Amino acid sequence: LSDFHLTGRAARTVVVLGGGIAGLTAAYELGKAGYDCTVLEARAVTGGRNFTVRGGTTQTDLDGHTQKAAYSPGVYLNAGPARIAQWMVTMDYCRELGVPIQPFVNANADALIYNEANGAPVRYRTAKADVYGYVSELLAKATDQGALDGRLTAEDKTRLLSFLEGFGAIGAAHEYGGTNRRGFQAYPGAGLNEGTPLPGPPALSDVFAGNVGRYFSFELGYDQAMMMFQPVGGMDRIAAALTTAIGARRVRLGAEVLEVTGRSSQVTVTYRQGGRTRALTADFCVATLPPHLMARVPHNLGAGVTSALSSFPAAASGKIGLGYRSRWWETDLRIYGGITETDLDLAHVWYPSHDFHAARGLIVGYYNTGTAARAYGALTPAERTDRAVMQGVKIHGEKYRSELSSAFSIAWHRTPFLEGAWTSPPWTTPAYRLLLEPAGRVYFAGDWLSHEVAWQHGAFVSARAAVTALHQRVLSTG
Ligand code: FAD
Ligand code: PHE
Repeated sequence: LSDFHLTGRAARTVVVLGGGIAGLTAAYELGKAGYDCTVLEARAVTGGRNFTVRGGTTQTDLDGHTQKAAYSPGVYLNAGPARIAQWMVTMDYCRELGVPIQPFVNANADALIYNEANGAPVRYRTAKADVYGYVSELLAKATDQGALDGRLTAEDKTRLLSFLEGFGAIGAAHEYGGTNRRGFQAYPGAGLNEGTPLPGPPALSDVFAGNVGRYFSFELGYDQAMMMFQPVGGMDRIAAALTTAIGARRVRLGAEVLEVTGRSSQVTVTYRQGGRTRALTADFCVATLPPHLMARVPHNLGAGVTSALSSFPAAASGKIGLGYRSRWWETDLRIYGGITETDLDLAHVWYPSHDFHAARGLIVGYYNTGTAARAYGALTPAERTDRAVMQGVKIHGEKYRSELSSAFSIAWHRTPFLEGAWTSPPWTTPAYRLLLEPAGRVYFAGDWLSHEVAWQHGAFVSARAAVTALHQRVLSTG
């Protein structure tokens, strides 16, 4: 939209429900255009799922458990969003808002893969060398034996074999017999020291039985491939910068929306703040609450809106931030950032991508979804820590317990005013299309109205779409 400004027109008022990324973006963009916006946010801070836990952060969940983080200065947990792909509009907002970014290590050859049945963890580099090696051997031998002659010309075969020799590090006989890509027990050194290779490789059928290749495709994802980035100092720097740009006086915190009443020319929102019920009337409303929560807010926008909002399911997810008094994963294991994959209920274990070589640091001890997230979410915070550490010791040994100094966990599906991590939208249904249109003067936005759910990018682009439509309407009605 070329004319995203109210130049020469009366300032319109907009009440924005929810101060997550979508709500803040709506207020920020409308504010730039000259609109007079007020954001109503139920939590004590803006950001919504964009939530960073530092020393002193306090939160009470829906089960009444209160946690206060005791992390040391500089140590933090990005409890929700933690990584940004290069192509995402989130990067442009970081640039525009002056939020410095740094690389987020989303793949690390020296991180581990731990499948419980295999006993010991294996480094990614080792697992990849063996899987790529044996797959290349099989394909090269099938090619040599003419099994692929129906698909391959003689030239194709030559080219494929030359690719496989490099890809799998297989020899001229097309046997995989290991490679220094696997890593070393002792790395090569001075003079005559050639290093000590790792023992192996294991036999072909043991490599496949170990199922170490199950996570190799992750780093190829269009949304997960390196380079990935994070804001310096915590993901909530984005929400904080948006809030500053909007103007803190336009953002009402601890303001829980209770009811929405649309009329032909205005919208009235009632909300509770500091124990008092208040009302706010504006020309327009942008509603960015999670859909399953918006469905519970009484309104007069029609039963179709409520049933459409109710058709978005809420997913469970949890994370625990384990604060350590030393960075033993760097000094002992030589792991600088990245992700260890497990088939334990921990799912993913993350090492920090920032402040390398600092005195202290934090490991994300689990980042899980579904059944595992619900199982951890049902425990007390202390029980979650015990369980996460008990599981992590299997991978990392006793230091995982002995160096621990403090922990903070989140179960998104048990977190007030969110009650879910993300949704899987009913994209192909009339319900989804209904909410892409305004209900009278109420516009909906959030990552749930995008094809980038579970990414801030989705919240940004959805908010931009909503405010663009709102502004077009204002321009067309004069
Ligand atoms: P929300 O953040 O849910 O905002 C809704 C707001 O409404 C909240 O602030 C809430 O408090 C408020 N609210 C609710 N009820 C009321 C009420 N009655 N009255 C007033 N206010 C109310 N994204 C990435 O970019 N990178 C990642 O790595 C990434 N990882 C993630 C990992 C996890 C575990 C989770 C949970 C999310 C992750 N995301 C990630 C997704 C990202 O967090 C979301 O896409 C984005 O933050 C959604 O913004 P939103 O404004 O649409 O919704
Ligand atoms: N965006 C979230 C994350 O990166 C959730 C997600 C995980 C989305 C994996 C897609 C793939 O952690």
